[in-house]
Amino acid sequence: MSNIQFQDEQGVRIITINRPEKRNALNLEMYTRLTEYLIQGESDNGINAFLLKGEGDCFTSGNDVADFLKNSDLGPDHPAFKFLFTLLDLTKPLVAAVSGPAVGIGTTLLLHCDLIYADNTAKFQLPFVNLALVPEAGASLLLPRLVGQAKASELLLLGEAFDAQSALEMGLINQLVPGDELVNHALAQSLKLAQKPPQALRASRRLLRGDRAPIREQMLKELEEFAVRLQSDEAKAQFNAFLRK
Ligand code: COA
Repeated sequence: MSNIQFQDEQGVRIITINRPEKRNALNLEMYTRLTEYLIQGESDNGINAFLLKGEGDCFTSGNDVADFLKNSDLGPDHPAFKFLFTLLDLTKPLVAAVSGPAVGIGTTLLLHCDLIYADNTAKFQLPFVNLALVPEAGASLLLPRLVGQAKASELLLLGEAFDAQSALEMGLINQLVPGDELVNHALAQSLKLAQKPPQALRASRRLLRGDRAPIREQMLKELEEFAVRLQSDEAKAQFNAFLRK
């Protein structure tokens, strides 16, 4: 069974990251499924919004660190690469429900979401530099835009975890919701989106998100640098240290 599941409910495609034994770490197969379910949803006239959540008490611990070691050749055909560009090109709104850790891509993918709800167990972290890597998903452009240069530098260079209250204060998430209501609340908001006139919803989203060209350009620059860092001895040492822990 795949570690990514989806279920369609009244115009909302609910996508669940389900690999709790590895804290929902994303491996290549999972990126491929995420991309596939998003692209299918994009072309399905019955789907008007997406909701992304993690199974259990974790959103996602980010890229599978063991995969960083095994699949360090990051070209345009790499499943993570394709997933990131699918997020960028999405035309239907994406809602996220974040409970527990949202590490690395678990936080950067939120920069491509439209509505984000989190509970008080949510912990965000951008540990790229700690792992001897660089940011991805356009975070080096989108995060300064969102939170300002100083805060973005703090989050991306120091790479320390921050909680949902801080995420709310910096405008990264929409609302802090009690844990037992999180998924239902995020779904209720997604269902509201799904009931809007679809063309107006998509056009409004497109206007809100602005010009994608500079984001794409920055993502390509990030990925070029990421590919170099991934091969470095300092990165391999960090991955091995994490896996030995
Ligand atoms: N890749 C691969 N395996 C991971 C993983 C990841 N990103 N995150 C967690 N795991 C694995 C652990 O190795 C461990 O596996 P094991 O049981 O076979 O030893 C299992 O998942 C549980 O993880 P653990 O660290 O014990 O859980 P925790 O609740 O104490 O901590 C996190 C959760 C998410 C805070 C912590 O696992 C973490 O920081 N993960 C790494 C995040 C990361 O660096 N991601 C890459 C960003 S670019």
